[in-house]
Amino acid sequence: MHLLGLNITDLMLSLFMGTMTRNSSDTDSWPWQVLTGSFWELQGAMVAQSRPFIPGDIAHPPRNPVLKINSGYRTEEFSYYFYGLLPALLYGILPNYLWENLCKLIRGARIMLQRKITKEECDYANQRLIEFVVEFELMYIERKASRIHFARPSIHNLIHLGSETVRLGPLGLLSQFTMERMIGSLTSEMRQHSTPYKNLSERAALRAQVNALLTRMDTVPDTGPPGKKPIDAGGGYFLLYPRDLHTTLLSEKEVAALKKYNPDTPGTPKAFWVGRLFLPHGQISRSYFQESRRSGPVRISRMVKILFDGQILYGEVQYFFRYNFSEESQFEEGPNRKIYHLAMISLCSNPDPTMLERSHLVIWKCSFQRGEKLLVVPVHAIASVVALLPWPNPSASSNDSNEFLDLFLPDTYYVVEHFGLDFSSLSTPNTSSLFEDNTLE
Ligand SMILES: *[C@@H]1O[C@H](CO)[C@@H](O)[C@H](O)[C@H]1NC(C)=O
Ligand SMILES: *[C@@H]1O[C@H](CO)[C@@H](O)[C@H](O)[C@H]1NC(C)=O
Ligand SMILES: *[C@@H]1O[C@H](CO)[C@@H](O)[C@H](O)[C@H]1NC(C)=O
Ligand SMILES: *[C@@H]1O[C@H](CO)[C@@H](O)[C@H](O)[C@H]1NC(C)=O
Ligand SMILES: *[C@@H]1O[C@H](CO)[C@@H](O)[C@H](O)[C@H]1NC(C)=O
Repeated sequence: MHLLGLNITDLMLSLFMGTMTRNSSDTDSWPWQVLTGSFWELQGAMVAQSRPFIPGDIAHPPRNPVLKINSGYRTEEFSYYFYGLLPALLYGILPNYLWENLCKLIRGARIMLQRKITKEECDYANQRLIEFVVEFELMYIERKASRIHFARPSIHNLIHLGSETVRLGPLGLLSQFTMERMIGSLTSEMRQHSTPYKNLSERAALRAQVNALLTRMDTVPDTGPPGKKPIDAGGGYFLLYPRDLHTTLLSEKEVAALKKYNPDTPGTPKAFWVGRLFLPHGQISRSYFQESRRSGPVRISRMVKILFDGQILYGEVQYFFRYNFSEESQFEEGPNRKIYHLAMISLCSNPDPTMLERSHLVIWKCSFQRGEKLLVVPVHAIASVVALLPWPNPSASSNDSNEFLDLFLPDTYYVVEHFGLDFSSLSTPNTSSLFEDNTLE
């Protein structure tokens, strides 16, 4: 949607960056003008260094906005930067009342971008957006005639998103993105310049006819997992290559996690490790087992959201494996053997509850250490691949080196989910029951 992806981001960023025109009679200082000078450079370095943490299926992760924001910064980059990274980057930088107001906008927008929205979520998001608009008037414009140009039409449009969603369905499905993708896909088929529009409409008609035929035949083209010999794990999930050729003896911690999943686990379980998992909505989750063996830069795609035991959890996939609990090793699937398709997950800690509440569930800040808090879940509990981004170090200062270790706090992260997936939840989680030892919290 251009409204959320370009217009709103442009308006808010020009306020934060101080590039908004200032009326000569408006002499008060602007408390929101924070993205300036050396701090802006620092922010740019943080965005650039966050890139390896953004999963590979985000086609255009945000580039350094300091260098690139005026050179064809894409809608996807704006969206990910603004609705994903900015709330964490500006925490403690924007005055609190403005930061909370920004979080209302982001929370509302994230829900409105979902492909499935419940009535409850829609009402909730609508409420947040209306609050944002009212507060924008009070906090930024302060009812001054000299700031009337802040109130662009895009601000007003936000209050219609809720009612339009009720009227037409999720706007992400019928927004500009879909249409532009269609235009791109159709024009890429054109090979001649003499009668382009005639050819274009003919191709569109041709495609509509093919689709109509396929619908009648009840056939959906291009489905199923990629790659060779996927292992069907049921429910639209498939385990994909790479697969280990030898079994690995599980470590003590891993055995404990497996026993928690099923107490019948024998003393020395072994398993064949599998590297990737295809999810029903098309994402592919990788694992530490696979990504740690890759050379060259990796965009981490092994952080997942898990719906387990009625709770929302986030963690890193160590590896996927198949297991039959009645025997010491595992077998090929036979007529009377039931194989479990499982994932070994290293969980994040519980989120910081104050941060979660104050940010209207926008910021899920947690700590994470690989190999700790192991949990075995069936692969069907994995809902999506998410980004776990490093938390900015509040005392970082911009200098030439901009080393990763200076910019971010160790072991502290925040979660950003893909926009357009059904990622929100109105409840706060409670993971304390899953662990006896809660030392990480
Ligand atoms: C500046 O604001 C005043 C109202 O305070 C308005 O009359 C004037 O037209 C504005 N000037 C510009 C250049 O927008
Ligand atoms: C469109 O143009 C291409 C290239 O000349 C041609 O092969 C194709 O048949 C045309 N399509 C239609 C539907 O006319
Ligand atoms: C494991 O496989 C055996 C067959 O070897 C089967 O009888 C048993 O039900 C399976 N165990 C589980 C827990 O599925
Ligand atoms: C850059 O800043 C960090 C603190 O943010 C400091 O630890 C580091 O020594 C500085 N490096 C240089 C070259 O000044
Ligand atoms: C979380 O669950 C534990 C045990 O089930 C319970 O004692 C605790 O009160 C719960 N915390 C919240 C915030 O609901």
